[in-house]
Amino acid sequence: MGWKAVFRVLVLIAIIEVTIAQQASQTTYLAGEEPSNSSVFESREGGLELDFSYHDHDQLTRYLRAVSARYPSLTALYSIGKSVQGRDLWVMVVSASPYEHMIGKPDVKYVANIHGNEVVGRELLLHLIQYLVTSYESDAYIKWLLDNTRIHLMPSMNPDGFSISNEGQCSTVHGRHNARRYDLNRNFPDFFKANTKQAQPETEAVKEWISKIQFVLSGSLHGGALVASYPFDNTPSSNPLNAVFQSYAHSPSVSPDDDVFRHLAMVYSNNHAKMSKGVSCQSGSPRFEKGITNGAAWYPLTGGMQDYNYLWHGCMEITLEISCCKYPPARELAKYWQDNRQSLVKYLAEAHRGAHGFVMDDNGSPIERASIRIKGREVTYHTTKYGEFWRILLPGTYKLEVNAEGYLPQEVEFFVIESHPTLLNVTLHTAKRIDGGPYYRPVGLPPRPAPVTPPSPGLFSTFTNSINNFMSSIFG
Ligand SMILES: *[C@@H]1O[C@H](CO)[C@@H](O)[C@H](O)[C@H]1NC(C)=O
Ligand SMILES: *[C@@H]1O[C@H](CO)[C@@H](O)[C@H](O)[C@H]1NC(C)=O
Ligand SMILES: [Zn+2]
Repeated sequence: MGWKAVFRVLVLIAIIEVTIAQQASQTTYLAGEEPSNSSVFESREGGLELDFSYHDHDQLTRYLRAVSARYPSLTALYSIGKSVQGRDLWVMVVSASPYEHMIGKPDVKYVANIHGNEVVGRELLLHLIQYLVTSYESDAYIKWLLDNTRIHLMPSMNPDGFSISNEGQCSTVHGRHNARRYDLNRNFPDFFKANTKQAQPETEAVKEWISKIQFVLSGSLHGGALVASYPFDNTPSSNPLNAVFQSYAHSPSVSPDDDVFRHLAMVYSNNHAKMSKGVSCQSGSPRFEKGITNGAAWYPLTGGMQDYNYLWHGCMEITLEISCCKYPPARELAKYWQDNRQSLVKYLAEAHRGAHGFVMDDNGSPIERASIRIKGREVTYHTTKYGEFWRILLPGTYKLEVNAEGYLPQEVEFFVIESHPTLLNVTLHTAKRIDGGPYYRPVGLPPRPAPVTPPSPGLFSTFTNSINNFMSSIFG
């Protein structure tokens, strides 16, 4: 079977399973049977209570099913695939339109527990689900958010790693990797350097997922530090000597949207109880001014998820390191929730900043995969099948360049203000062929720079790699 066929089967399986899951939970719910030994139960108010303890894969699954049964009009549960050991990679959508994309409104996501032993985000997403569904009726801001956004929450991208991790282990690497011992946050295609790591099922599932849904904004939740880290994580290769120097010098790898990424990181940091204070986790570990950092300035890495989201899919993702201890005692979870609740909500609302709109042809029909580029920002986004695009931007004046095969390119000047997003509808006119040749240059992904092979790898590069590996396993 080709890959496409395999994927279709997988999607089918996922859909069937979701249906089964919902029927199962519905039955359980209607029969009034408490899932045995569960920390999920119905409160007197009819909401779902979730205690501050760690939930293993079965408990997590039961909780998600119970919520989707209890809140069918605000939630939808689906699995994007399975881990190496066959655990579902669950995603819960929370939105006023859980089952269907709302045309013109953004989809956003959080992914937690990519590193199996970094577990706070996993529990916080369960609490976020509960908070959103129980606040919808009573909190005008949450109602606005859910009415205008589809929020996809994946509590665990690495359930196998989690299953062997141990409470109380703050800084080990036990449980970090997937069941085949791959680091999933080094397993994505990389724009700057060829990634030769064998793609893992968890990574493949996420890649398919984000190719099917145009996510506008995303956060990846980690532990081991307290900082919001933004792209790029990797640096362009230069000569090997420079590469050594670079990782020593901790030079930032600046993206075309550096201003926006800094802003997004600040939104998380400033809304957090203490991240913006920039205190170091322990003596010897770094201090981050205002609680934010450029990824590569901290330490460069290849195959990370955030650069991939941004460069391949036009989804702005940052990495949120939310606990100094990777697997803190359960009694501290309530505090982590208090510290992060506001950040988790406010960050997602940033999907509504900047410009968005539709690209259409002369008949008003949407143009899919038109390329969207802001002049001066060397990164290309694409329209969805409904012709939609989103571009998170800070207040200012911009020029939008729109291109699509068979149409004349179009440039639109616009401005962005602080208080609400700018709506931009762009009509492209059909291009007449003159010489049978293509009218425009098809704009796909920017070509990856040719991998630079160091003349002789030698001591220096080995040394650099081991330093970076060392750094990355100590921290997030
Ligand atoms: C119930 O939970 C306790 C503590 O988490 C555990 O020791 C026990 O084995 C569980 N029982 C069942 C039936 O799952
Ligand atoms: C922009 O286009 C969309 C989709 O065709 C349409 O629903 C909307 O009313 C348009 N808005 C404006 C201001 O033209
Ligand atoms: Zn991590």
